[in-house]
Amino acid sequence: MIKVLFVCLGNICRSPTAHAVFTGLVKARGLEDRILVDSAGTSDWHIGKAPDPRSIATALERGVDLSQLRGSQVRSEDFQVYDYILAMDQQNLVDLQALQPADFAGRLDLFMRFAPEMGVEEVPDPYYGGQEGFVHVVDLIGAASAGLLQHIIEQDGQ
Ligand code: 4NP
Repeated sequence: MIKVLFVCLGNICRSPTAHAVFTGLVKARGLEDRILVDSAGTSDWHIGKAPDPRSIATALERGVDLSQLRGSQVRSEDFQVYDYILAMDQQNLVDLQALQPADFAGRLDLFMRFAPEMGVEEVPDPYYGGQEGFVHVVDLIGAASAGLLQHIIEQDGQ
């Protein structure tokens, strides 16, 4: 079983979107018994909360339903569980590096590393912006999800 954790700040916009988009690709390939997907925030601000309605609406336009996901906070114990811990932006990565135990054997990285063709390092925080920011987030996440799944299939033989 390959285990993937997507991480952003609030766990109500970017990482739940990645969680649901990537899960959809995994299911489309029939790999849901081999790849486990989850998401979390570096903050404790939205624990137990549903995703942002703007993220839910934008993803639903692409046929992806994230309405059932609920916010959680990343914990140092997650490094014992996950093979891939993927940050949406540089600040998330710095915060995760502070939690990372010395013996972590998985990959902690920026999610957008899996979509070099998009030419960006980060999935930008859409929370304080307009609708176009949420559309941009879904586009970036779609590309990185495809790249990540291809990487896992090639690298980990799933
Ligand atoms: P996310 O977006 O990290 O993509 O879930 C945010 C959600 C909430 C806040 C900031 C970013 N907030 O300030 O509450």
